[in-house]
Amino acid sequence: DQSGMAYSVGTTLDRFIKSKQSDFPFASGELSQLLRDIALAAKIVNRETNRAGLANIGGAFGQTNVQGEEQQKLDVIANIRFMRALSKGGEVCAIVSEEEDSVIDLQNGSGKYVVAIDPLDGSSNIDVNISIGTIFSIYRRKTPVGSPIQEEDIMQPGKEQVAAGYVLYGSSTMLVYTTGFGVNGFTYENSLGEFFLSHPAIQAPKDGKIYSINEGSELEWAPGVKNYVDYCKRSQYSARYIGSLVADFHRNLLKGGIYAYPSTQKNPNGKLRLLYEANALAFIAEQAGAKATNGTQRILDIQPETLHQRTPLWIGSEKMVNEAMGFLSKKR
Ligand code: AHG
Ligand code: MN
Ligand code: MN
Ligand code: MN
Repeated sequence: DQSGMAYSVGTTLDRFIKSKQSDFPFASGELSQLLRDIALAAKIVNRETNRAGLANIGGAFGQTNVQGEEQQKLDVIANIRFMRALSKGGEVCAIVSEEEDSVIDLQNGSGKYVVAIDPLDGSSNIDVNISIGTIFSIYRRKTPVGSPIQEEDIMQPGKEQVAAGYVLYGSSTMLVYTTGFGVNGFTYENSLGEFFLSHPAIQAPKDGKIYSINEGSELEWAPGVKNYVDYCKRSQYSARYIGSLVADFHRNLLKGGIYAYPSTQKNPNGKLRLLYEANALAFIAEQAGAKATNGTQRILDIQPETLHQRTPLWIGSEKMVNEAMGFLSKKR
């Protein structure tokens, strides 16, 4: 039991956010409002997700996004929902999204936050009723409020995040987030329309027995990756790979495990995107006592150079990530 907690079952997300306002003595409550806006959009996307099979919003949208991926209808719907929530609130000045080619400058005279978002993670799982997610990162803009958005407002390394989180639309819908004071998880109660604190002060196990990697790419791996996965097998770890990053990450965070999307010959930077996938999860991982690296560098230290930049990702229980790095750094 997580004893000594100031909250108990029955703490709504709203109440929790309010109680945490004192972590930011000089803040005006805008970050809190922004988190509430995100939670509202998450509820809406949750509703769309739940009825997708019946409402003819499954399947392909018929367009390709800037990633070169075929967009699903729910990718587009989730993007619209989050864009709307983020632009209406007034706290946000700019948005970076997986589904948008370039930065959305909201030309908002008062917004001091920049948000990077993967509105719907795990697209390929929508139509087969498997868990999907949303991932978000929040930064404070660097240039003065009210002025046009500059490159330095957007291209911030992950260590500059003021908050990050994800929503998992799974067997239950959950919202998990950090503002740099630990990680807390909330479970959605459908009939009440509220998120309740269900996972206070999440601590990731230091070690684990689950490895999550797409082994179909084995022929494209560097020898170190192959050697590490062989080691996982010799150690009789369990292989678990959903193909929804949020869901794979969430399981490993709670149970102990490692998730890897390494470089391959085809994709030397892997597949996952630094700004709206890797950074948020790396921040959460570290806040929960876990670890995230690209193989040689801490994810949160990477200085981004382009909006949709990809990065190899090794993330999860500290001991497992360290062991994996041992294999990667060996020549053979
Ligand atoms: P998205 O659906 O947001 O484009 O992200 C897809 C990602 C991620 O969720 C998942 O872990 C990974 O793609 C799976 O890729 P592979 O099918 O190559 O294993
Ligand atoms: Mn995609
Ligand atoms: Mn994704
Ligand atoms: Mn996505």
